[in-house]
Amino acid sequence: MITFNEKEKTFLITNKSIALFLYINEMKQIETVYFGVYKEDISLKYRKEFEDNYSTSYFDTCKNEFIDHSDKSSNEHSLFEISGHDVGDHRPAPIIIRHADGSVATNFLYDSFSVSKGYPSYVDMPHATGEDVDTLTFILRDEFDPNIVLKYNISINNNHDVLIKNFEIENHSKNPINLLKALSLHVDLDSKDFDVHHFGGAWGYERNEFVNHVIDGEQIISSCYGRSSHEENPFFFLTNKNIAIGFNLIYSGNFKASIFTDYSFSTRITYGINDYDFDWVIEPNGLFVTPQASICYSGTGVDNMSQHFHRFINENLIQYKLNKRPIIFNCWEGCEMNFTTESIISYMKDAREIGSELFVLDDGWFSLRNDVMHGLGDWSVNKSKIDLKKVISYCHDIGMKFGLWFEPEMINYDVPIFKKHPEYVLGLDRAKATVHRSQFVLDFSNPEVVDLIYSQMIEVLDNHNIDYIKWDHNRDIKEANSLNLSKEHKQEFYHRYVMGYYSLLSRLRNRYPHMMIEGCASGGGRFDLGTLYYAPLIWTSDNTSASARMNIQYNTSFAYPLGTISSHVSKASDSSYETKSQLALFGSFGFEMNPNMLTDIEKEVLSKYSLLYKKKHNEIFIKGNLYHLSSSVDGLRIYEVISKDKTEAYILLIYYSDIALNSVNVLPCGLDESFNYKIDMPNIENNGKNLMNDGFLVEINKDSKFKISSVFINIIKK
Ligand code: DGJ
Repeated sequence: MITFNEKEKTFLITNKSIALFLYINEMKQIETVYFGVYKEDISLKYRKEFEDNYSTSYFDTCKNEFIDHSDKSSNEHSLFEISGHDVGDHRPAPIIIRHADGSVATNFLYDSFSVSKGYPSYVDMPHATGEDVDTLTFILRDEFDPNIVLKYNISINNNHDVLIKNFEIENHSKNPINLLKALSLHVDLDSKDFDVHHFGGAWGYERNEFVNHVIDGEQIISSCYGRSSHEENPFFFLTNKNIAIGFNLIYSGNFKASIFTDYSFSTRITYGINDYDFDWVIEPNGLFVTPQASICYSGTGVDNMSQHFHRFINENLIQYKLNKRPIIFNCWEGCEMNFTTESIISYMKDAREIGSELFVLDDGWFSLRNDVMHGLGDWSVNKSKIDLKKVISYCHDIGMKFGLWFEPEMINYDVPIFKKHPEYVLGLDRAKATVHRSQFVLDFSNPEVVDLIYSQMIEVLDNHNIDYIKWDHNRDIKEANSLNLSKEHKQEFYHRYVMGYYSLLSRLRNRYPHMMIEGCASGGGRFDLGTLYYAPLIWTSDNTSASARMNIQYNTSFAYPLGTISSHVSKASDSSYETKSQLALFGSFGFEMNPNMLTDIEKEVLSKYSLLYKKKHNEIFIKGNLYHLSSSVDGLRIYEVISKDKTEAYILLIYYSDIALNSVNVLPCGLDESFNYKIDMPNIENNGKNLMNDGFLVEINKDSKFKISSVFINIIKK
């Protein structure tokens, strides 16, 4: 619901759970009066006014007189919805324009507004979709050139507490302008007493949680790798006691979040496309749309925030709707590129036996690819290695779907395009180009390159019955010079590259609407909302050992729903198949090993969990609510999922076997106070209220054979 009070010049944006209250001041700046949990008394009484000494005063340079205004706002200290640059606010501004005369002063001031139903929608980039949504669009004009118009969209959903914000910049002036910074989100919070949680790491060690108190000055969380990256995930959140405020960006490329505080006792968050090597020309009558950013306000803790993000992603972001996620068997960790038609068929047979529903032939089926040195960029089936039609039809005959691996954005040296079109390959204009995993990055900012790869891919996809593709991306961008871009447009490369990625994804999605796509980038190097718009799940990490996955998956699920977290039981030797299966259930379940090597007992264990997955996963793990029950004990993670109707829950305790604990008191969440529940381990019965207040003691079973052990608990309404 969006309400405008014309007399007061205020806007209330609310779903009766959270609220944002804004005021247009006399200088036409949009002030943030209140952002938080909804309450009845939200009004201008919450507005911050400043004493004369601190409020900003102005001189009218045309009339040669001081401007008389009574609003007492301060450019340096007030809380704004959008701030200007080079206008006395020394905190970071979200948008900076270099005008035709070279000046960079930018100040967007209120002009008018409109209200509409639904989210703003864009053909060429991922965005939120869905109903029961109201959008307020402010029209602002640049003080220094009113022909530069800014549309500022704020959307509120009546079913969850995730706000969506972005900007659209239109140039109606006669000259081109340069956008030096074009972020998506600007939030001023009325406190600087927050902890910042962000998720960084490296290949195989993605999304470690780092927590620090808001620093005086500026903290940057960013990527300039050309993708959202292993090194930092775009998701982060702020906490103060029960308050948790989360941020995420619907984007897969370079991003930057700045968390800025100074003596004004407020915190400014600006967030969007990284301005690193960014300089975008908007021609007269041109438009630049910034990716949508999401922000969730929770007054009842971190899990509430996560649950709202999960709902938003499942209901309003992922376009490929799945009734049930198939159990995926991926052959990569079993055989890598060493396979034949016969060996894949024998894999399929055993994969089916343990309950798999979709078989993925990973890297190595095309061109001369038997190792990482060859073949990328030539997407023709290597017929002397694999009879693709035969394996696909065998796969379908035994009741499994079939998936195929691609790495569309990359090229190897031995592929003809490399020599024929060196201008398609990034870095070849330099004296030395960086090589990583023996491969080079194609210039996806060039639509011709995207067309070429698209035509190769559809040749394979049109001629084979393929249900799924895994889209990989095994190196980052180290030389960001597109030979296709003129001098004026050179610094548009990174964003254009991401738009190339989206354009290929959406062309494939449109041509093969039934086909599911799994995102992947050397594991979790592109685990982001932009990718999830097209691909309902993402390979979470190349590290499939339980000791790594217990942290990676746990932390990933603060932002992303379990169904998006692709999680396979592998041959990793640090834990039992029981533990690995239990952990994989807290994700989108699958397998990744040589199934011919499994013993009958192992097959029995895996089949048992496949059955559990098929019976319970959708209702409880996908549609239910997730709680993170542990945070403070190193080497121990406890999570819980509970069905929406609160009749059944699963709790997983996963820990290092040498942990110095013999038992843990587990406090479950989200139970119905009045229901009686039966817990299978320990074997007890009690009502929801007592269980949630007192918890129950769980013995830590240490399995000395393995580094990681687990306890898996079922709670069921009696
Ligand atoms: C990296 C991926 O993350 C792996 O799962 C696998 O697909 C390899 N690439 C194949 O090259």
